[in-house]
Amino acid sequence: MKYITISNLSFSYEEGGRLILKDINTEVKAGEFICILGQSGCGKSTLLRLLAGLEKPTEGEIRIGEQKIEGASLERGVVFQDYGLFPWMTAGENIMLALKQRFPERSKQELKDIALNMLKEVGLKETVYKMLPKELSGGMKQRCAIAQAFSMNPPILLMDEPFGALDAVTRARLQDLILKLWAQDNPKKTVFFVTHDVDEAMLLANRILVLGQSPSNIIYECVIPEDRRPTRENQFENLEMLKMRTELIRQINRDVAKHIE
Ligand SMILES: Nc1ncnc2c1ncn2[C@@H]1O[C@H](COP(=O)(O)OP(=O)(O)OP(=O)(O)O)[C@@H](O)[C@H]1O
Ligand SMILES: [Mg+2]
Repeated sequence: MKYITISNLSFSYEEGGRLILKDINTEVKAGEFICILGQSGCGKSTLLRLLAGLEKPTEGEIRIGEQKIEGASLERGVVFQDYGLFPWMTAGENIMLALKQRFPERSKQELKDIALNMLKEVGLKETVYKMLPKELSGGMKQRCAIAQAFSMNPPILLMDEPFGALDAVTRARLQDLILKLWAQDNPKKTVFFVTHDVDEAMLLANRILVLGQSPSNIIYECVIPEDRRPTRENQFENLEMLKMRTELIRQINRDVAKHIE
């Protein structure tokens, strides 16, 4: 059932330089929702860049099926914290640009229908299609970025702290949106989602990976079976989930304390 295999992955930005990631090993099933937690600077974005194919491993490798990742691919959609929209294009043009690359054989009208439908799906009005990113709020830009990523329908979705800059209510809405879009797909996308927020990770993930301080590897992981996924309503009442939450925080704090000593 393994789909993505990360083997003995180590990475340094410069040849012979400081290792950011050291000896990361894990296997991910198709359709798994993986959340990655870890202190600032530990290498979460770096790991996502490696998965995106924007960086090459210093040692080890990442495989998708039998295929080694050797570069960027439209099979892997990326949503960054800065939304990734070109400021000189309207929201609609941004989405269309991505769609044209992904589905070059489809007609412009077909792609426009996909874009408009997706904007609706993420709760935005049709008028947003003609608006520039600077005319949109942070939450609206983030919805556009999600619409862009999902409309391209990549089997693998990489999200780097996509909700970091948003208020709690908008964030909660977008968490629900991501879960809805992920759950309604068949087959489901395989998602890597970076966050600093333990509660966000527990609401979204099937499995949580905690990275230690750099040179970092996976210091702890926990599995949340789909049928025991906490909801926003019961998240702080469910004893099993509360224990898991306490343990996650304990592991993160223990690692921080170890590096302060
Ligand atoms: N392009 C780069 N060149 C050299 N070093 C880099 C580069 N990008 C990141 N680094 C370094 O790699 C380390 C890990 O950075 P990374 O951005 O992956 O951390 P992070 O876990 O995503 O942090 P945050 O939670 O703050 O986003 C940091 O020490 C950072 O300074
Ligand atoms: Mg980062």
